[in-house]
Amino acid sequence: MNLTIETNKCLQAYNSLALAATASHFCCVSNYQQLEKALAFAKSNNLSVMPLGAGSNLVLASDVEGLVVYVDLLGVMVTEETDIPEGHVDVTFCAGEDWHEMVLYSLKRGWYGLENLSLIPGNMGAAAIQNIGAYGVELSDLLVSLKAVDLESGELFTLTNHECQFSYRDSVFKQSLKDKCLITEVTLRLSTSPVINLAYPALKGYFLDRQEPLTATMVSEAVCSIRRSKLPDPKELANVGSFFKNPVIPATKFIELQGKHLDDGADIPGYEQDGGAVKVPAGWLVEHCQFKGVRHGSAGVHKHQALVLVNYNDCPASNNAKDILDLAATIQKKVFADFGIDLEIEPRVYGFI
Ligand code: EPU
Repeated sequence: MNLTIETNKCLQAYNSLALAATASHFCCVSNYQQLEKALAFAKSNNLSVMPLGAGSNLVLASDVEGLVVYVDLLGVMVTEETDIPEGHVDVTFCAGEDWHEMVLYSLKRGWYGLENLSLIPGNMGAAAIQNIGAYGVELSDLLVSLKAVDLESGELFTLTNHECQFSYRDSVFKQSLKDKCLITEVTLRLSTSPVINLAYPALKGYFLDRQEPLTATMVSEAVCSIRRSKLPDPKELANVGSFFKNPVIPATKFIELQGKHLDDGADIPGYEQDGGAVKVPAGWLVEHCQFKGVRHGSAGVHKHQALVLVNYNDCPASNNAKDILDLAATIQKKVFADFGIDLEIEPRVYGFI
């Protein structure tokens, strides 16, 4: 299998914020042999390697001096293990498979558990890096293990769920294994009978007036409908979903903030976490700092969901990445000044301006 290495490749079509950074070297790998060759090429040319999935959680703040490896490993396999609990199936998805397509594929085959994660942009490999989560379910609830290749040695290794060190929008791949490996496949344990999880208030509210029994497909469609009503489709308006994590603050700080700051009488919302800390919706904080719909150069805060920054890509003289990051910094400063809360950027920021 030949491997084509391109030089000075524009990455605009490869990231959902549509930032026009270039990669000094670029290749697409669709099997292990090509991946081996790509790593060998990088080694012999002294290039760093940057794995790239759908680019839906990435801010390319500068050009990439190195080899961008676009992961196009495809395939789905049912794992034949004897120790799988009854009523479940272990399914291995190759890293390049599109997340939402795999949600629909699983539903069609009667493999349940992914419905609440419908319509999340991105692919299988990247889903594990940020431990994608929505509507009361996180990938870590379903992941059994994954395989990855060490970028330095080229060796393939397996990590169990525990070894991935998952937490809210976090994993070992954002910490000690950052930039050190490329995820090749992910094994999920799905249920063979429907699992209806309406724990998330917005989802429960959606079905309030329904009388008939719910199916997993109805839940998936509801999640798609809620997401479409709030979140811009990256194909129509460039974005990376939530730009900030929802901050988790000590209960004492939350109590201090309740009812304290706002002229409009709105009370700060919060969701109690295990251990008593409180998760505050960053979108609410950004909205109450009056940023909803605000523009800065080509960047903007989405008008329906203040947690999403978008690239309008309509100011030719602008540096779009700089506009996005400057706007993010202005928001962080104001939220800290008004609420004393640090907002952490959620997507991966590559390079600095
Ligand atoms: N809110 C506002 N104004 C806004 C946005 C939100 O006041 O502009 C407040 C409301 O009080 C609302 C609450 O925030 O009730 C929660 O909003 P929503 O249900 O839309 O969820 P979120 O906290 O903004 C998180 C995830 C989303 C995920 C949804 C649903 C993070 C950083 N974001 O958003 O994930 O889809 O919950 O589970 O945890 C993503 O990671 O890219 C993403 C879209």
